[in-house]
Amino acid sequence: MLSFIVLCGCIAYAVAQSTTARILIYSATAGFRHDSIPTAIEALKQGGNPINVQFDATEDHSQFTTAILSQYDALLFLSTTGEVLDDPGKAAFRTYLNMGGNFIGVHAASDCLRNTSSYRSELGTLFDYHPPLQNAIVNVVGPSHPSTRKLPAAWKVQDEMYNFISDPRAIGATVILSADESSYVDNGTRKFDQGTPHPTAWFQERGAGAEAGGTKGRSFYTSLGHLNETWKDDLFMSHIIGGVSWALQGNTTRAFNASALVGNSQQSTTSRVGAASTAAGPRESAHTSRSVVSRPAWLLLGMGVLQNLFLCNDI
Ligand SMILES: *[C@@H]1O[C@H](CO)[C@@H](O)[C@H](O)[C@H]1NC(C)=O
Ligand SMILES: *[C@@H]1O[C@H](CO)[C@@H](O)[C@H](O)[C@H]1NC(C)=O
Ligand SMILES: *[C@@H]1O[C@H](CO)[C@@H](O)[C@H](O)[C@H]1NC(C)=O
Ligand SMILES: *[C@@H]1O[C@H](CO)[C@@H](O)[C@H](O)[C@H]1NC(C)=O
Ligand SMILES: *[C@@H]1O[C@H](CO)[C@@H](O)[C@H](O)[C@H]1NC(C)=O
Repeated sequence: MLSFIVLCGCIAYAVAQSTTARILIYSATAGFRHDSIPTAIEALKQGGNPINVQFDATEDHSQFTTAILSQYDALLFLSTTGEVLDDPGKAAFRTYLNMGGNFIGVHAASDCLRNTSSYRSELGTLFDYHPPLQNAIVNVVGPSHPSTRKLPAAWKVQDEMYNFISDPRAIGATVILSADESSYVDNGTRKFDQGTPHPTAWFQERGAGAEAGGTKGRSFYTSLGHLNETWKDDLFMSHIIGGVSWALQGNTTRAFNASALVGNSQQSTTSRVGAASTAAGPRESAHTSRSVVSRPAWLLLGMGVLQNLFLCNDI
């Protein structure tokens, strides 16, 4: 009996090695709310299919527990504004980053949790102000990157050209898109030095929001993404999806790394989790049900099986 369970565990785990990565979109707003959020969520869900990524979306801050976050290969903050997490939520987020979790920030994600220094470091900096929405050119700069590979060298966009309160390069970010300041009008007053060329999108190989000694995942941020139309544009989607797949391929999470501490290692509709969810009742939503059902399943399997599962990781 035990060996049968162990075998099932190994099979489930082996399947999980090539399984779908899971990303939690967080789009809570305590300040300005972008009406493009539902359009963006829809576009991300569709755009995730070809790269084998399943997106869940929530605006419920109580989802920020270590148990729930640890099932995800990345967290994507989508135009989050203001104080969108409480202290336990911030702590769970930090724990997630310390365990190799990846982070993706989009547009107004640079305008939330402004007093949380680890959040600022994980994203790269904070939003300062933007001139009115207008046509502008953003230049592809820096090294070749999946998020800019399909873009023209001088990319014409209609979006908000964000200014920031510091230079993300100062904490190790690499800028890959830069607003061409001669292509649009900014009558605002710059109070901060954001460095040159103007940072518009960037990545961090090892997100600076994680503590020293942790397994640091990747971080990607783009300040573009204001309008509904933007999320229907193929070039913009190639930018976002390129950034998402790059973040995952740091291989610090379970969908890509058998010994990782966070990420998706389970098939959501078959194998262990599928069987357990029947016992736990109907699934309310993908991310809540996963956390609810996975605990009893693990408890039932017991420590011996846990050990065997752990051994399976080496296969
Ligand atoms: C953007 O799309 C949402 C529906 O997803 C709609 O409610 C909103 O009005 C749209 N915004 C504009 C400016 O058209
Ligand atoms: C953030 O810090 C500033 C300055 O200390 C303070 O005025 C503000 O109330 C703080 N905001 C939050 C949401 O804690
Ligand atoms: C910038 O300032 C100029 C001169 O005051 C004005 O004509 C123009 O409309 C302003 N443009 C924007 C985008 O604010
Ligand atoms: C992650 O794994 C893939 C596939 O094995 C590999 O191509 C890629 O270089 C790895 N990434 C890192 C950062 O090691
Ligand atoms: C895989 O995960 C382990 C445990 O977190 C980590 O030590 C290791 O560096 C990860 N591998 C890669 C390629 O990041």
